[in-house]
Amino acid sequence: MPTPIAPYDLTGRTALVTGAASGIGRATALLLARAGAAVHCADRDERGLAGTASLIAEDGGAATVHPLDVTDRAALRTAVAAAGPLDVVAAIAGVMHTSSVLETTDEDLDRILDVNFKGVLRTCQEAVRAMISAGRPGSVVTMASGAVDAAQPGLLCYSAAKAAVVQLTRTLATECGPHGIRVNAVAPGWIRTPMTGRHGPEVQRRTEAAMARMSPLRRVGEAEDVAQAVLYLACDASSFMTGQILRPNGGVSMPW
Ligand code: NAI
Repeated sequence: MPTPIAPYDLTGRTALVTGAASGIGRATALLLARAGAAVHCADRDERGLAGTASLIAEDGGAATVHPLDVTDRAALRTAVAAAGPLDVVAAIAGVMHTSSVLETTDEDLDRILDVNFKGVLRTCQEAVRAMISAGRPGSVVTMASGAVDAAQPGLLCYSAAKAAVVQLTRTLATECGPHGIRVNAVAPGWIRTPMTGRHGPEVQRRTEAAMARMSPLRRVGEAEDVAQAVLYLACDASSFMTGQILRPNGGVSMPW
């Protein structure tokens, strides 16, 4: 395995990644492991988690799996305790939801906020408490979305939850900076993952063609593009970055 460039070297560090069973979370877990971190992979999808752990093992990395739901605080606390002292936290687990404002139910709003905002909040609270009590500096990376920068029909619940993640990120950065803990968000544009492929191959093909035409880079984003941004924020290359929002979006901002 090639030696990582020094600031990107996470050898001897421990990372917790939620949403690690699929898409951006899986790509992030793989990349952090490749940079040398011992990676604790959390997700509610047990099979997906096993797949991620195998990929990391095949790559020569170290992974431990924690099947859990980010709506379950006790399970998160147990995983954080089992992981031991953490240096990096990537709170990536999330779900998509679309409904017009007028059709949105209380249940929709509660469910999406519970996973996409409170799930990130719980992950940050449990991990950062442990980091502070262990007296360790570190880096927390949250997953927002380009959806926070503009309005798009149908995306109220999703974008409201992601906007709350942005405010959580900025607020937490002010509160735990004195402990040497940095907190930053990644707000990707449209990325090819199972989440964006949920409407089937034909819709995906058409959407990808449209997205690629809009990007100055003439291609769609891949999970690995976002993982690179997470790695940058997780490691010492971003040592003076905190409370920031990084946007891997191929130059395409919403509304598309
Ligand atoms: P994905 O669907 O491939 O992966 C999401 C993962 O989160 C899955 O493994 C799923 O099991 C897990 N998850 C969902 N709810 C959970 C819960 N309650 N507890 C534990 N695990 C849970 O989706 P993708 O695209 O990789 O998304 C990852 C993150 O990136 C999400 O937060 C998403 O909102 C965000 N994002 C994705 C974009 C895209 O275009 N794909 C763009 C902007 C943000």
